[in-house]
Amino acid sequence: MGFLARLFGKETIEPEKKETDNMVKVAVVYYSSTGTNYKMANWAKDAAEAEGAEVKLVKVPELAPMEAIESNPAWKAHYEATKDVPDAKIDDLDWADAIIWSVPTRFGNVPGQVKQFIDQAGGLWAQGKLVNKVVSAMSSAQNAHGGQEATVLALYKTMFHWGAIVAAPGYTDPVTFESGGNPYGTSATVDGEGNIQENKLDEAIANQAKRTVAVAKAVTSGM
Ligand SMILES: Cc1cc2nc3c(=O)[nH]c(=O)nc-3n(C[C@H](O)[C@H](O)[C@H](O)COP(=O)(O)O)c2cc1C
Repeated sequence: MGFLARLFGKETIEPEKKETDNMVKVAVVYYSSTGTNYKMANWAKDAAEAEGAEVKLVKVPELAPMEAIESNPAWKAHYEATKDVPDAKIDDLDWADAIIWSVPTRFGNVPGQVKQFIDQAGGLWAQGKLVNKVVSAMSSAQNAHGGQEATVLALYKTMFHWGAIVAAPGYTDPVTFESGGNPYGTSATVDGEGNIQENKLDEAIANQAKRTVAVAKAVTSGM
């Protein structure tokens, strides 16, 4: 008996056929300490809704101890300001046809909070429920070349394990060139005061979200 059969009881994984009402479900899953990715996630939410999607904006739960949060006024203020944003649940990944991630760069990688959240998706993965999710990722860092691409690609590496379909922005719209030029996922450079350096980042995020919804519509109606 092969590996897939042992895991799933069959040799191939047929994605669940879902009844669709043409309304694509998008989970915008973000983590943010000081607000940049919260802003980016909201731009993605607005753009996906404008495309007719049903959108849930959820934050990856904080894991840092309160003393660490309180030692940084910007972190503390953002933590308090977003207390009412619903925490991301693993069920949100099951619910969604498409997932848009927005996460800051931590030493060229995803934050531990995001890794911890993703590591809880083993059960869904084992049931084949992450197959054909349409995914797209964004990131931010303090420096223009501080690791945003590495962070986005680290997320995509996990998505390949899921059997997800990556809807990267590519150079599908001139706004990618005008907003920093990252075809893997829209990326922000943000200074210590929270000022985003790129022009038209909101437009680039809107293009990425629009493309994610379009691919998700094609996938959910055609598979
Ligand atoms: C532990 C830690 C590691 C970081 N690593 C990097 C890094 O590798 N490159 C970089 O340019 N910025 C780095 N930063 C800066 C963050 O990426 C930046 O604060 C973040 O993108 C802001 O997003 P947020 O406002 O959503 O939290 C790091 C920050 C922290 C706290």
